[in-house]
Amino acid sequence: MPWLAKLFPERTGFNNLLEAVKDLRNEFHILIKKRQATHSKDVLNDFLDFYLTEIEETTDEGSSFYKEEGVRNLIDLLINLFAAGSDTTTATLCWGFLYLLKYPKVYAKWKAEIDNVVGRGNLPTLIDRPKMPYTEAVLHELLRITSVTSGGLLHCTTESVRFEGYDLPKGTIILPNLYGCQHDEATWKDPDIFRPERWLNDDESEFIKDERSIPFSVGKRICPAEHLSFLSLFTFFTNLIQTFDFEATDAGLPTLDPKPGLVLHPQSYEIVLRLRKC
Ligand code: HEM
Repeated sequence: MPWLAKLFPERTGFNNLLEAVKDLRNEFHILIKKRQATHSKDVLNDFLDFYLTEIEETTDEGSSFYKEEGVRNLIDLLINLFAAGSDTTTATLCWGFLYLLKYPKVYAKWKAEIDNVVGRGNLPTLIDRPKMPYTEAVLHELLRITSVTSGGLLHCTTESVRFEGYDLPKGTIILPNLYGCQHDEATWKDPDIFRPERWLNDDESEFIKDERSIPFSVGKRICPAEHLSFLSLFTFFTNLIQTFDFEATDAGLPTLDPKPGLVLHPQSYEIVLRLRKC
């Protein structure tokens, strides 16, 4: 509630948020200046190298890449990527281990696939991904059932439209119900059950993509990091599961009800990680 934050900036944590963003801006500014000092357009290793080259080569004063304006825009972009990327990925990881401990058969099956395909000597890499249909199924099921970005982002109609019998004037704010799509009983039959097998063919040898699950939303403004997220979730989960055994503590585990928020997180819990024996 933006008005609540403005009325009570201390109590809502709004001031803390502003301070955190200020700190982040300073950190990014220092990082960019360091990188600019050693930057060469002949060595392009990552996103920053490409962006800094664009800033260096831009002579048009009206361009968003021009000199210090370019640096300011780069900082904003990095903040956007951090804000959009870190909480969503963290929440999905926290949900993942909670679901695995609540559904031990899924956990055992996933661990077995990793051991069978990758073995114990090497860490899983993206080269292994096409041979791991169960892993693919678990990740898709996790993103469906948790719907961490349950309400997506706000959008607005750019012109008047008639949709499903409703007249939506130009400028109408649209809040997509992604959670609803991913928990619709008519579509999923048992939407609240964590069942990766729904994403596999009959003999469970092949992953079948179901486009009705839309955790990253749809259309032109779909999350630009859909594929990147999958790669990072694949790497985090498979590497951790191959290396450690995860166990609940005596304190037990919370229910699967999310904490309310812009990004849905599970309730806090603690687990024990034990290095797996070879
Ligand atoms: C589990 C992981 C993630 C989920 C479920 C997710 C989901 C979403 C959703 C639903 C949207 C709104 C799309 C719309 O407006 O219709 C969105 C937007 C966005 N996401 Fe993600 N996201 C994830 C990870 C990431 C990561 C890792 C990054 C960056 C590194 C990222 C960057 C963004 C950005 C920049 C936008 C705004 C795009 C725009 O307004 O055009 N997301 N994401």
